[in-house]
Amino acid sequence: MFPEVIERLKQHFCVLSNQADETWSSERLVENLQGKSGLFSTGGERVDASLLAACPDLKICSTMAVGYNNFDIDAMTAAGVLATNAPDVLTETTADFGFALLMATARRVTESEHFLRAGMWTRWSYDLFVGSDIHGSTLGIIGMGRIGQGIARRGAFGFGMRVLYHNRSRLDAATEASCKATYVSKQELLGAADHVVLVIPYSDASRHTIGAAELALMKPTATLINIARGGIVDDTALALALSERRIAAAGLDVFEGEPQVLPGLLKLSNVVLTPHIASATIPTRLAMANLAADNLIGFLVKGKPLTALNPSVLGPR
Ligand code: DGY
Repeated sequence: MFPEVIERLKQHFCVLSNQADETWSSERLVENLQGKSGLFSTGGERVDASLLAACPDLKICSTMAVGYNNFDIDAMTAAGVLATNAPDVLTETTADFGFALLMATARRVTESEHFLRAGMWTRWSYDLFVGSDIHGSTLGIIGMGRIGQGIARRGAFGFGMRVLYHNRSRLDAATEASCKATYVSKQELLGAADHVVLVIPYSDASRHTIGAAELALMKPTATLINIARGGIVDDTALALALSERRIAAAGLDVFEGEPQVLPGLLKLSNVVLTPHIASATIPTRLAMANLAADNLIGFLVKGKPLTALNPSVLGPR
């Protein structure tokens, strides 16, 4: 963790930090949480009923991620423990990365770089690593929250793309106009888009939003980009579709069971793989960490967290 964030926390609390970045087993985590009022999570720690039962002093768990599928919110609410996350501060950086991954995938950037580095480039030819166009193509976004809207704006205004989106609920007309985006069903989006970007939160309901049936609806020339969470895509079905060229390519920043990656994906050349880095710039990671610290200080010192996920535990105001 950024030393300056630890220092900020130390102005208010007695802090035990894992600056050696050791992997703590769940037993060690529970042991280290004894007598602690707050947990600062960098995103991976599972907080569920059994951890809460074993850590009775815990009052708040603050994650520096926007995604909080490592928190069992129902169990936290039942235990009267506040959950907070870090939205907004990573929106533009993550949307930038979504676009970077889309472009690298559609234009075969990493595949062609590997070819060049391997000394295989002996002559130029007109069809060397031909990819698919981004400008003027159709962009489909599944999940039109803040990050999805950021990607839509980049597509519509930066690259002249036709933007289709699908979301649990349709956006209001002003927001749709601000991203030049058109609401369609998931099926229509999958059939029409040249590039599909996934930006939905993970839950039991969103698991395998893209599986064999959905991949079958996509164009054989299409690309699929996942910057949401592992498990939103059925990685096994995707690896098969990519190997049979039923879709052209995929760009994946998140994986089922990460940091393990399905061996079938690692073997393929038509997939760009990155290790969950969509929000990874220094200013953004610092802003995320500071927001997580602000939530701990806001709640434990002032009684007012900034971004509560289960505000009902705060009681009537
Ligand atoms: C987030 O903020 O959810 C990113 O995926 C980092 O975990």
